[in-house]
Amino acid sequence: MAPEPVDLRGSEATLLMTLYLRDRDARSAHPVLGDRFAGDVLARVQHDPYRLGRFSSDTVTICARARRLDEWTVAFLGEHPDGQVLHLGCGLDSRPLRVTRPAGSRWIDVDLPDVAGLRRRVYDLPDGVEVIGASAADPSWWDRVDPDRPTLALAEGLFMYLEPDDVHGVVDRLLDRCASGVLAFDAVAGWTLPVANVTPGFRELGARFAWGFDGADFRRRHPLLRELDDETITALGAEVTSGAWHALYRAFDLLPGVRDAMRLHRYVF
Ligand SMILES: C[S@@+](CC[C@H](N)C(=O)[O-])C[C@H]1O[C@@H](n2cnc3c(N)ncnc32)[C@H](O)[C@@H]1O
Repeated sequence: MAPEPVDLRGSEATLLMTLYLRDRDARSAHPVLGDRFAGDVLARVQHDPYRLGRFSSDTVTICARARRLDEWTVAFLGEHPDGQVLHLGCGLDSRPLRVTRPAGSRWIDVDLPDVAGLRRRVYDLPDGVEVIGASAADPSWWDRVDPDRPTLALAEGLFMYLEPDDVHGVVDRLLDRCASGVLAFDAVAGWTLPVANVTPGFRELGARFAWGFDGADFRRRHPLLRELDDETITALGAEVTSGAWHALYRAFDLLPGVRDAMRLHRYVF
């Protein structure tokens, strides 16, 4: 089958970057994530490997991030077999196929309408997985969320592309709608915004970071959240590598600016 032409712009186009890196990892000698779906899905969408290859140096950290979020998802569903997962900004990620989902659980993938349509075409998703084509920040789809199930909201590679009010709006809606659950997301430091936004590869995709994490502000805005984890992407990189790469990530993790560039957060409510 010929690859499907896609016309993704801005933050939508970044889903090709993470998909490309997961495929690159899966084909490597020592995969961090080993996403066995990424290669087939990538082959089904038109993409420019040369352009995406510019992000290759992020393979380990992007895949370590996905691996940790998979682990947190498995832990959540192990504890709450009747739980519900909101996979916000899911892109073309295969997480609902990678993790074991208990029969009584519910899974909702959310991404912008064009991406949701593409996702439905390139994946043969099982019945238990619903795909909603809407902005995560759009209040209208939240009435499809079961308020009584323990809920895990995952936002991987999403919040940095949203305006600050939209990030806080998503969190407020989660806390208003759902009685209990977990929120897990990655976030970038504020200083990375102007840097990322002038990076050639990023500009070519038309993507732009809009929200940087500020722990004190986040705690003040969302006092109902209790922090479970706050991990640096550099420590995660060190955890999944050995030899020279491990030493390099360990060294990066000692440098405050670099260490804080991207962190993974998990909160319970
Ligand atoms: C870097 S990609 C990450 C995709 C996926 N989570 C992954 O790790 O491969 C960013 C994703 O956020 C989605 N996105 C951007 N703005 C969004 C919004 N307002 N609501 C829902 N999804 C959004 C994009 O369409 C894209 O799929």
